[in-house]
Amino acid sequence: MDLYEYQGRELFDRHGLPVLAGGVATTPDEARAIAERLGGRVVVKAQVKVGGRGKAGGVKLADDAGEAVARATDILGMDIKGHTVHKVMLTVTADIEQEFYLSYLLDRSNRTFLCIASVAGGMDIEQVAEETPEQVAKVAIDANRGVDEALAREIVAKGGFPAEVADQVTDIAVKLWQAFVAEDATLVEVNPLARTPEGNVLCLDAKVTLDENAAFRHPDHEALVDQGSVDPLEQRAKEKDLNYVKLDGEVGIIGNGAGLVMSTLDVVAYAGEGHGGVKPANFLDIGGGASAAVMANGLEIVLSDPAVKSVFVNVFGGITACDEVANGIIQALALLEQRGESVTKPLVVRLDGNNAEAGRAILDAAANPLVQRVDTMDGAAERAAELAGAGV
Ligand SMILES: Nc1ncnc2c1ncn2[C@@H]1O[C@H](COP(=O)(O)OP(=O)(O)O)[C@@H](O)[C@H]1O
Ligand SMILES: [Mg+2]
Repeated sequence: MDLYEYQGRELFDRHGLPVLAGGVATTPDEARAIAERLGGRVVVKAQVKVGGRGKAGGVKLADDAGEAVARATDILGMDIKGHTVHKVMLTVTADIEQEFYLSYLLDRSNRTFLCIASVAGGMDIEQVAEETPEQVAKVAIDANRGVDEALAREIVAKGGFPAEVADQVTDIAVKLWQAFVAEDATLVEVNPLARTPEGNVLCLDAKVTLDENAAFRHPDHEALVDQGSVDPLEQRAKEKDLNYVKLDGEVGIIGNGAGLVMSTLDVVAYAGEGHGGVKPANFLDIGGGASAAVMANGLEIVLSDPAVKSVFVNVFGGITACDEVANGIIQALALLEQRGESVTKPLVVRLDGNNAEAGRAILDAAANPLVQRVDTMDGAAERAAELAGAGV
């Protein structure tokens, strides 16, 4: 999960890193109140989860509260690389003499953590690495040792930081590592890390990515989730403990087992090419024990996606046998009717594996006009794509 800068700044603050006083506003009036509290001379910064805001006009200086209101008015609602600005952060203005770069990240390809440090900060670090690689120091971090003062000094030396800021940057490098570990982050990046004319070093930007796999260790991270940007269907699916990902096609997909669902997406996308380019509308793995209730919840989510024109239920019976799944589908449709959800979209069901024959017989006996049985995966994908393509 990526954080907004203001969330990253608060996180840095909690871990003792030098950040400037600030506040976050969603309206020009709130911006005025914060600017007045900060003494008037502020920076107004667009809060979007994308870099390069400065270049895109999303970071502006203001000399007094009135100007801060004007800049906040300009920036709120702005589009930065496809992201609409809903919040601005206001912070005290720093006089900047020099801009540096410092980050820690999970380096998956080398199966380690990595520190990147550079005296050429404030710019896109990828570009610096390409044009002047000698200005970018990369230091692998051993997870067991971490970053102690000695290693931090090595980072500062390799990064070529000026002697007069060496102590401060060393301290920041240690604390930034501690924040990275304590919060289970996969990225903490400070760009720019700035030196003021008085010789103070400050974190003027904060980019943080948290590892969602560690969310169970951090109940406080839940509050950082941006509810406004979560897909409403994904949110409902999450509340029902379903493994659902919204995609942008027309064929709803339900399957048991992540691998089966992944290959179902492929065969549907392939079949869809012959039917006007229809595509899978979602990923939904209902898992091994697909009870009627779970099937009903899954169908409810998939069917409530207005883009869905047909649904492909692809089940390979294992521990949960196909006859149970077939009963589950029939009961699920009845359950949805009871809940007042009128089901009108066609369902193509493929059952194979454990007790497939019994499952198919149950579907046939139920004779629900919406349910079509196709016994091969390719055949069922073809039929579901055809139905979606016809817009039934
Ligand atoms: N508090 C501040 N005071 C003065 N200048 C700032 C301040 N915050 C940011 N800046 C300037 O704006 C530039 C861009 O801001 P930054 O937060 O790094 O956004 P982004 O990385 O998205 O462009 C910085 O490199 C710095 O020069
Ligand atoms: Mg930046």
